[in-house]
Amino acid sequence: MQVASIGVVGLGLIGGSFAKALKQAGAVGKVFGYDTRTQESRLAEKLQVIDEACSSLGELTRKAQVLVLATPVKAIEPVLRELAPHLTGKHILTDMGSVKGAVADAAVRVFGELPANFVLGHPIAGSEKSGVSASNVELFRDHKVILTPAANTSMEALDQVVQLWRETGAQVLMMSIPRHDEVLAATSHLPHLIAFSLVDTLAGADDNKEIFRYAAGGFRDFTRIAASDPIMWHDIFLSNKTAVLNVIDEFTSDLEILRQAIDRGDGETLMGVFTRAKAAREHFSKMLEGKAYDSNMTSQNLTYMAHQGSAVKGDIRVPGDKSMSHRSIMLGSLADGVTEVEGFLEGEDALATLQAFRDMGVVIEGPDRGRVVIHGVGLHGLKAPHGPLYVGNSGTSMRLLAGLMSGQSFTVELTGDESLSKRPMERVAKPLREMGAVIETGDQGRPPMIIKGGNKLSAIHYDMPIASAQVKSCLLLAGLYAEGETSVTEPAPTRDHTERMLKGFGYDVAVEGSRAAVNGGGNLTATKIDVPSDISSAAFFLVAASITPGSDLTLRHVGVNPTRTGVINILRLMGADIEIFNEKEVGGEPVADIRVKYAPLKGIEIPQDQVPLAIDEFPVLFIAAVNAEGETVLSGAEELRVKESDRIQVMADGLEAIGVKTEVRPDGIVLRKSEIGGGSVESHGDHRIAMAFAVASLVATDDITIRDCANVATSFPNFWELANEVGFNLKPAGKV
Ligand code: S3P
Repeated sequence: MQVASIGVVGLGLIGGSFAKALKQAGAVGKVFGYDTRTQESRLAEKLQVIDEACSSLGELTRKAQVLVLATPVKAIEPVLRELAPHLTGKHILTDMGSVKGAVADAAVRVFGELPANFVLGHPIAGSEKSGVSASNVELFRDHKVILTPAANTSMEALDQVVQLWRETGAQVLMMSIPRHDEVLAATSHLPHLIAFSLVDTLAGADDNKEIFRYAAGGFRDFTRIAASDPIMWHDIFLSNKTAVLNVIDEFTSDLEILRQAIDRGDGETLMGVFTRAKAAREHFSKMLEGKAYDSNMTSQNLTYMAHQGSAVKGDIRVPGDKSMSHRSIMLGSLADGVTEVEGFLEGEDALATLQAFRDMGVVIEGPDRGRVVIHGVGLHGLKAPHGPLYVGNSGTSMRLLAGLMSGQSFTVELTGDESLSKRPMERVAKPLREMGAVIETGDQGRPPMIIKGGNKLSAIHYDMPIASAQVKSCLLLAGLYAEGETSVTEPAPTRDHTERMLKGFGYDVAVEGSRAAVNGGGNLTATKIDVPSDISSAAFFLVAASITPGSDLTLRHVGVNPTRTGVINILRLMGADIEIFNEKEVGGEPVADIRVKYAPLKGIEIPQDQVPLAIDEFPVLFIAAVNAEGETVLSGAEELRVKESDRIQVMADGLEAIGVKTEVRPDGIVLRKSEIGGGSVESHGDHRIAMAFAVASLVATDDITIRDCANVATSFPNFWELANEVGFNLKPAGKV
């Protein structure tokens, strides 16, 4: 629906760009403009930024239906006073000021209350350029606009303003007024203040000309915003006083810490701040590119188009093992001394663990091409984090951390993304409580988990009701802090990386059959860790080559720990041609090269004992099953329903969507050989579902659209590129 007319008050960069963008989108019948600087109004008319300049606010109010205040914040009150007598109930008002509390206060002073038809807003876009001649139709495209509606704001007015912003290409968000002012004080106002101040300091120096002559990259990047409009910024700081003073105080005390560290020659503190900041900046850049999880708890909608591929050929190394990468950070952080890790998986899940330990004061260098250096703080050296520990999509981070956090002196809240927030945590909370931990979980035992600090843990024996390496690891890690011997028995063998790595850090673990035990009170000693490639990532290629005629692929340096090789055992039972060679032991873990060639597969009944050993590989094994002659039956696999998605149902739905019939059972599935067609599948933010359907596309008769793929970055960040190198044909379809 086109808005009949808008009137823009203040024809600077922001007001001009808004007018121009709406005109170009054809979203408004007529655009009027008013500026106290008549030459700017004329220029705006001449540049066709607006259709018609008005000579007074009265005239503008008579002609325009939606009034947009794009003046500096301090000018809003006098403008509202002048507008007030001309306003009718039919007008809609909005503004673009960078501070919302002050605008709301001004409106209350003028009207006695914040009028229902006044929608406060703030576009997070701008430029150091000012004036109507700098107007840019693209200024708001893909930028965020924050609207701060109040309880009495009219829905009609809000909808209208939302619609106008959407026409400019902006993404509209809602926030409360105080929250907006706090967030902006930290993310926008403080950086501008520092830039103005730094340039002023340098310009004031006696030898300023010389200094500017040598001030290249860093100075230029850092101070661009010091060329912004002084009036506007003067208004912002005076209008957002409380929030700005708070962040200035925080920043000043952090700066003082750096100053003192330099004075003392304390490199550790500098490394801590710099490595944390570098990681945070990189994470931010990835978020902007849509390649990282977003801490607003919604995964991004990245879609891939998977076209039919060719034979899978090559010699590749897939990224490092996720389970071992998590554990290397955890044990390295809690060890005495410096641990060096090679082959670390730079995927979002392992990075979430790394960030959690940084948040608890551990200095971690890297990751840089798989190399991480961890300055261990000892089992009792962690510090309370400033806020909740956000672990994104990673169940392993949350469950293993729950064990470690139970032994700390401080309270911690563990949170995660949308998918993780649906996963069961009572399986670890219950036995941890038996050890004396005090833990609160969310609704139905789901995240967030709040783990109270300062509780003494005592050892227990726990007979695990489910075969879960995460539960086992959680309890063994809590056992490091408990008095006495903590032991667990598992109903079936699960991955034993925790036991092996603890031994690598010099910690005694008693393993006897299905029982593992540790005594509390020991120490971990820093070590070197070489993380092999993840067999769970290799699995996609094992199946890809097995089902695509003409394939011959070698995978290097893959972890072949017998508690992880279920996928190889199952594929071999199905007739796959898989050769394991160059077997060796690296840092207590078996590693080998694997060659896989195409072979006709046959359906099997998957042996029960293989289920926990291939627990993460079933999505892609289902694709193998659909390509296998006869029938494949999986049972005893109800755990698949509580992974990153309900992997039985989500795979069945995806297979149906590409023309494959399935028979879903509560604890498994029956799959028969079937032609794979094309269609659109939802991966529900589950990395392994997305990659499994990419494998299916190799032999599909038509294209497969795979939705919601951003989380592939949790375990296999370069999957798409590597897959395309060996014969896949996958293309991003852009974000939806
Ligand atoms: C993992 C254990 C498994 C696995 C997960 C990683 C680990 O989970 O699915 O991807 O690193 O311990 P469960 O213990 O819940 O089976």
